[in-house]
Amino acid sequence: MDVNRVYQGDSLKLLDRIEDSSIELVICDGPFGVTNNDWDRVGSIQEFNLDLIRRFADKLKDGGTLYLFGKPDCIDFIDYRPYLTLRSRIVWYQPSRLAQGRISFTNNYDILCYFVKGSRATTFNLDEIRVPQLVELEHRLRCERVPSVTNGQYGKTKFNDLGKNPGDVWGDIKQLTYKSKELVSREVLNTIQKPIKLMERLIKASSNEGDLVLDPFCGVGTALVACERLERNYIGFEMNGEFISETRRRLKEVRSSRMESLF
Ligand SMILES: C[S@@+](CC[C@H](N)C(=O)[O-])C[C@H]1O[C@@H](n2cnc3c(N)ncnc32)[C@H](O)[C@@H]1O
Repeated sequence: MDVNRVYQGDSLKLLDRIEDSSIELVICDGPFGVTNNDWDRVGSIQEFNLDLIRRFADKLKDGGTLYLFGKPDCIDFIDYRPYLTLRSRIVWYQPSRLAQGRISFTNNYDILCYFVKGSRATTFNLDEIRVPQLVELEHRLRCERVPSVTNGQYGKTKFNDLGKNPGDVWGDIKQLTYKSKELVSREVLNTIQKPIKLMERLIKASSNEGDLVLDPFCGVGTALVACERLERNYIGFEMNGEFISETRRRLKEVRSSRMESLF
């Protein structure tokens, strides 16, 4: 299958055309099983995800990574362990989500299941995705000597000037709103288009320049745009023709601005 292309069709069929053990990173932002969109009606979302996990495992290289987006219960009660190792469930916290629940607590986060093929990832570029350590920095300025969390002994705390590990609760990247400049149209708000910053964090962390990234449910192509900017190779699948056109338009825009910057 040619790389740096987006293919129109059913991902579940197109996946078979990808060579086994050829992909470094899969970003899967597909059905959540919660909306009225036809494509989101998948029966049991957990069984649907288990089938995807099994198939992605075949396509990933050893040490490759899968980020699977979903609701908090999207991998509950399924056994994915024969295929991939779950290293984190990253909480993508969205405080602005409308809190309309009346009988229970409103869900205001999605999860990104961080899976690795094998016991650890070949690539985890922490320095590329560090975030500011504002609280710690203030603390350091006030007292140079603090007790170690492991043995209680006082010593000088070591801080990385590049920032800290983003951890597994991400509240610093906001979902798009009607006012977001990057929103391609109102139709794709909420259930479709994700912020480029979110995709860039995943791609920077878990791939290197020239690696191959698969986005099997690419929507309007946010992850592919991030790949194009970050010089990763990519393959995208999408069934909706209008979204494909939007993806191609966005990719062309990145390529032309890169060309312009060369002159
Ligand atoms: C949540 S959206 C992805 C959004 C994307 N991350 C972005 O930022 O633009 C999921 C997409 O998967 C597509 N889709 C769902 N099932 C599919 C299938 N079986 N084959 C191809 N595309 C599918 C939908 O049309 C939808 O655009």
